[in-house]
Amino acid sequence: MRPKEQIYSNYTEEDFSVWSILFDRQMEQLNGRVAKEFLEALEVIQFNRNEIPEFKKVNEILATTTGWELKTVPNISPAKEFFQLLAQKKFTATCWLRKMSELDYLEEPDMFHDVFAHTPLLSNKAYTDFFHKMGLLAEKYIDKEEIILKLQRLYWFTIEFGLIRSEGQIKIYGAGIISSKGETIHALSNDSIKHDFDISKIYEHDFRTDVIQEEYYVIDSFEQLSGSMDQIEAALFEEVKLD
Ligand SMILES: [Fe+2]
Repeated sequence: MRPKEQIYSNYTEEDFSVWSILFDRQMEQLNGRVAKEFLEALEVIQFNRNEIPEFKKVNEILATTTGWELKTVPNISPAKEFFQLLAQKKFTATCWLRKMSELDYLEEPDMFHDVFAHTPLLSNKAYTDFFHKMGLLAEKYIDKEEIILKLQRLYWFTIEFGLIRSEGQIKIYGAGIISSKGETIHALSNDSIKHDFDISKIYEHDFRTDVIQEEYYVIDSFEQLSGSMDQIEAALFEEVKLD
């Protein structure tokens, strides 16, 4: 059974080692590849190699920056529940870590993914403006399966696997890339296809969760996303006829 809440004294020496190893490894991989907004956010959120983040402290920092909070869950949440919590500025996060034998691959997200990769940017205003609006949009159409599927695709190709232009280069901001050793390199290499952000294309773009991505979408800024919400909502209905 996975823990439903964080009891800090339950972390083992192995947990601390796993956190340090992954932290060091990914910081090296991310050097020169990750968006500057992520590095700035990492400072704000005060993560470091020696300390597994304590949710209570993280939430205190988020409360003073964007008003978001982590909500602890044992496993990945169903899409509807996940989106409804986003609408309340709550991000669901696991509080357990993978074992030393699982450093490179894990079938379900652990807290290295949920916390190291996702949480820093929850302190960024423009990023959370977009993320919150996505939650509100999903809540509005929560019983429309086709709409929720499209918003899952939007989530996937931005928050999880998004790339961003920065000073003439393409950088990473998606958490699925940030927490993956292999994908950090692959995403920026010539082996993958990069599209400009295109909402209609994303809504029709099916994805797989069990393989490295072949295609990514590149935004110009988080403001581009938060400023496109009218278009993001309108495009939901391009192919869908609602009753
Ligand atoms: Fe994720």
